[in-house]
Amino acid sequence: MRSKLVAGNWKMHGDRAAIGELLTALKAELPSEPSVDIAVFPSSVYINDAIKVLKGSPVAVGAQNVCEYAGEGAYTGEVSAAMLADVGCRYVIAGHSERRALYGESDALVVTKVKRALDVGLTPVLCVGESESEREAGQTLEVVARQLNALWDQLSVADLGSLIVAYEPVWAIGTGKTATPEQAQQVHAFIRSVFAEKDANLSNEMRILYGGSVKAANAAELFSQADIDGGLVGGASLNAQEFSAICRAAE
Ligand code: 13P
Repeated sequence: MRSKLVAGNWKMHGDRAAIGELLTALKAELPSEPSVDIAVFPSSVYINDAIKVLKGSPVAVGAQNVCEYAGEGAYTGEVSAAMLADVGCRYVIAGHSERRALYGESDALVVTKVKRALDVGLTPVLCVGESESEREAGQTLEVVARQLNALWDQLSVADLGSLIVAYEPVWAIGTGKTATPEQAQQVHAFIRSVFAEKDANLSNEMRILYGGSVKAANAAELFSQADIDGGLVGGASLNAQEFSAICRAAE
């Protein structure tokens, strides 16, 4: 039985005071023993603050990005997977569409980042999803398959035990245009079938999150779909009450 995960991607939002208030409000709003997994992904400079405030709470902390190089080295401006694990992160997002589009991250680079995370015991959240024009051209499944296929060049099925996939259609991110539960379920089932071709156990146990304008009002219907195991929430995760309501919808 897969447990659900609700994850809040705070992107490049907030300052120290606002993040502090959000963390305190989250602690107050969220149940102390939720039946779902919950995580937040602050900007890297606030990860330490989040870990301190959330200590003893059921909310885990993750990073929004990771360096593709292992170990230490002359990589100015980068944060390694080992550093993220060292300060207490549990998760790391790889291949968010904003990083693919704005920073030119390729499928192969994204998978290298997944590998770095797995190597140090972090749980990678691999984002995949099509753009609006790709959906209109009927290429959704082809695009998602291509993004997933990059995994097999660098990773074995055994490596992928803790992988989480997030399906985030680019046209639904920050637009208020949510995929319908049926549209999302179709792609989630497809993603699971791609993994099933490699390994039935991996496929059955792998969590696949939906992301793209998730809010309290649409979360329950999305999360009730057979292959949707929770959400990767952007804008709505910056409001403690709204995010808590989304977490409750997953319970
Ligand atoms: P929104 O929930 O703001 O659409 O963002 C989704 C997202 O990109 C989460 O990673």
